[in-house]
Amino acid sequence: MANIVIFDTTLRDGEQSPGFSMNMEEKLQMAHQLAALNVDVIEAGFPASSDGDFASVNLIAKKVKGPVICGLARMVERDIVAAGRALKPAKKKRIHVFISTSAIHMKHKLRKTPAEVIEMTKAGVKLALTFTKDVEFSCEDATRSNPAFMYEVITEAIKAGATTVNIPDTVGYTIPDEYGGLLDGIFANVPNIKNAVISVHCHDDLGLAVANSLTAIQHGARQVECTVNGIGERAGNASMEEVVMAIKTRKDLFRHGTGIRTKEIYKTSKLLTAITGIAVQPNKAIVGANAFAHESGIHQDGVLKRRETYEIMTPRSIGLHENRMVLGKHSGRHAFGKKMEELGFKLSKDQLDAAFTRFKALADKKKEVYEDDLEAVVGDEITQGRQTYELAYFHSTTGNATVPTATVKLKKGNDVLTAAANGDGPIDAVYNAIDAITGVKGKLLNYQVRAVSGDKDAVGEVTVQVAFGKGSSVRGRSASTDTVEASTRAYISALNRMLAERGR
Ligand code: KIV
Ligand code: ZN
Repeated sequence: MANIVIFDTTLRDGEQSPGFSMNMEEKLQMAHQLAALNVDVIEAGFPASSDGDFASVNLIAKKVKGPVICGLARMVERDIVAAGRALKPAKKKRIHVFISTSAIHMKHKLRKTPAEVIEMTKAGVKLALTFTKDVEFSCEDATRSNPAFMYEVITEAIKAGATTVNIPDTVGYTIPDEYGGLLDGIFANVPNIKNAVISVHCHDDLGLAVANSLTAIQHGARQVECTVNGIGERAGNASMEEVVMAIKTRKDLFRHGTGIRTKEIYKTSKLLTAITGIAVQPNKAIVGANAFAHESGIHQDGVLKRRETYEIMTPRSIGLHENRMVLGKHSGRHAFGKKMEELGFKLSKDQLDAAFTRFKALADKKKEVYEDDLEAVVGDEITQGRQTYELAYFHSTTGNATVPTATVKLKKGNDVLTAAANGDGPIDAVYNAIDAITGVKGKLLNYQVRAVSGDKDAVGEVTVQVAFGKGSSVRGRSASTDTVEASTRAYISALNRMLAERGR
């Protein structure tokens, strides 16, 4: 049986949701990992939406080999031309054109009549075909559309040359039984339906995105659009790892496979977390921290006797190994480099040097360095963009009967800039000192700290969201056994990111 096409939209639908925006380097890194995961299609962005999105899609089209690279476009000339240009360097490229077919969207959002929507669809698909033979058509808000009108639009889109037709549950409104019926109706009433692959794209507003996608496969859909960790607009999209592992675990029901290298799933989920600084909840299916943890005595006893008593898939099948102790302070650069490769990090020479220095400092402070510690600390290096400021020195004091104070020295080119400040606590004092050096006031919108491993000498991972001056907010992340140091580095990383974005 042919495989179900896995269309990953982490870098488009996922990236457009609040808190998940990524810069160009981060998107490229994620796209390389999606290729290692072997997704069939990477929706790399929406080129007409901004110069940054255009450049990211273009870069991914140039550099990422393997999957089809796809760009999204509304059914208008400007968008389609932008998508075609951005995708030009890709060996395999797809343009994904969409237009709303529901009465509410056509009347209030598009302000177009149904006849106009049909004409725009025909023209848009034809224009997209001048850039690539691989054109996908989506009827946005399909699950609230009049089915008879949708049959007509789909028939025309396929006649114009679309080879994939997507039926999105844009607002996460449908339920499995109803969605299955909608697909049955399309297969029965669109005369040329066999000339296209039917795709589904489900949002999770009612927590049904994965269930709806799986039901759609049972009703003939052969492409599923999904995202890593289920990120996406509002409540998110169908989670890639849940869809893929359900198909694999219940192949007796689905009778189709996917081309996904499931052993790359965990690494892919972790990379997204490292880049965005947003962790999945512990009870998240497949990739959550508790997904393979057996806590109750009865369950533990069963698993020790035979794993299958309580385990329907193995942690190894998603690439999850025990959090092994890896290296010590005597480990050399070569062993460190090999370990990095094993953990899936592709580091440049400079990144490897910086990561090795951080590892040595960590190994001096911490008795046992675990894989999770390494991932957190090294994750810092790979997610750093251009660094205008580097931390040279910091010192901060606090106490229950003293005013917290801090001194910070930052390197900027060949200069070392120093300032001292006080604050509500040691971290606030450090942040005030940094603001005094840069002359830009940062407003801390969000601050989170998480212990990466157990024990008192655990590595703490800090994520901050900061608005500098009047600009929009940026994210920063860092990890260290010292939470004040991790907080300081996270703030500097946000500052550097803001400066890099302004520079662009
Ligand atoms: O949810 C949606 O309808 C979309 C389309 C652009 C496919 O994201
Ligand atoms: Zn969507």
